[in-house]
Amino acid sequence: MKVFNKTSCMVKPSEETWSGNLTLSELDQTSVLNHVPTLYFYKQPSEDWASVVRTLKSSLSSTLVHFYPLAGRLVNIDRGRLEINCNAIGVEFIEAYIDIKLSDLDTFLHSPVYPKIIPEIDHKLSIEEIPLLVLQVTRFVCGGFSLAVNISHVVVDGQSALHFISEWARVCRGELIESPPCLDRKVLRAGDPPRPSSMYEHEEFGPPPVLINQSSKSEREQETMVSMLTLTSTQVEKLRNEANRSHKSEMGHGFTRYEAIASHIWRTSSKARKHLSEQPTTLAICVDVRNRMMPPLPQKYFGNAIVNMFVTGYSGEILSNPLGYVASKIREVINKVDDKYVNSVIEYLKNQEDLSQFRDLEPTNDDEAPFYGNPNMGVISWLTLPIYGADFGWGKEIHMNPGTHDSDGGSLLLHGQNGDGSLVVALCLQVRHMEDFKKAFYQDIDMI
Ligand code: COA
Repeated sequence: MKVFNKTSCMVKPSEETWSGNLTLSELDQTSVLNHVPTLYFYKQPSEDWASVVRTLKSSLSSTLVHFYPLAGRLVNIDRGRLEINCNAIGVEFIEAYIDIKLSDLDTFLHSPVYPKIIPEIDHKLSIEEIPLLVLQVTRFVCGGFSLAVNISHVVVDGQSALHFISEWARVCRGELIESPPCLDRKVLRAGDPPRPSSMYEHEEFGPPPVLINQSSKSEREQETMVSMLTLTSTQVEKLRNEANRSHKSEMGHGFTRYEAIASHIWRTSSKARKHLSEQPTTLAICVDVRNRMMPPLPQKYFGNAIVNMFVTGYSGEILSNPLGYVASKIREVINKVDDKYVNSVIEYLKNQEDLSQFRDLEPTNDDEAPFYGNPNMGVISWLTLPIYGADFGWGKEIHMNPGTHDSDGGSLLLHGQNGDGSLVVALCLQVRHMEDFKKAFYQDIDMI
């Protein structure tokens, strides 16, 4: 299998856009500094290929007039802070061909083809040189094509990335932009002037637990793999019912699908990794704060409006207690996230001398950098993200895939594609733990 005739160009906004440095919020500049891919597959369009590519590029160029920060570049300012230089250098658009048919791919499974059709980000470049958005359209021999969108997490979170994709698709279909983005990130710059010191300690910014008696270096070096684990709607409800049966939530309503499934994933990871019962472990949860702020953020706030929360426990504790106990620990931490808490996080970060220490650089070989793999897990919900239905004018995608999220312990929770209530866990684990995880994951549901 070969990718050939690869060409690349910069697509710029079609009109002059505001230039200057755009201030970023503290939430943009911490946590993840890498690009996040999404991958769409389309059947053969009715138009000829040259015209498809032309339309994709020209609509992109028009869409960038509204979403112009994506065409800029990051710049380092003082004290480890970043801004976006809105210089309209452009987004990278790669066109390529591959000598296989779409039907040769099991698009659902994580495929060795993906690294060839998802554009790579060259981390050897300085951040001032790395495009914030890199796209690749790849034509398959059957006439179908893939579109990979690799977008900087400093500039957008999942909601904002999908807002951009849906507006670009709309413009590509010949319609007008429906909801222009709100580019003013000052709405998330709390404490100007600084607020009095907060009631929160923010221990979440401390290092995550490490494996007892092991160096995190040896864990970091382990080979990882990605599996897509489907949960039927019956299995999902079984888990939710079990959580509710085994522990009454003190917070009004029963547990959500996310709370029940994340609990099950966390427990299963401790089992598959054969942790000692006294092994400390943490579960990372990404929380969207848009509607938790007072007042809520503008509907189309464009940026990162998420905070990472961490639930900590011991493997013995989460395995020996009922599922609902773990779900209640998760809920307790999510419920902490309100306007006061978010402002306090922002204030805390703002007061830091050097913000760069709060970023995960990827790929990292730095043994000192925090390691969120074994013994830790992360479950990111994409349940409320509009990931399906990106119609660029030639019909909706036949398949959407979250691309490569390949760090140990990372997982995404998505809706199944056929709308039957099934959910999918896109899970990355060390190769040596994956089979045991899968076995325990399904066996423990069967035993409920
Ligand atoms: N449309 C449809 N259903 C919605 C909804 C929406 N816009 N918003 C919430 N719901 C549903 C949820 O699916 C859930 O229903 P369920 O119990 O049947 O699953 C219920 O309302 C409660 O949702 P929520 O309050 O969001 O709780 P949760 O436990 O499902 O999720 C979080 C908790 C923290 C994961 C979630 O609040 C969140 O922040 N999600 C966004 C994460 C994100 O931004 N991911 C991308 C990162 S880049």
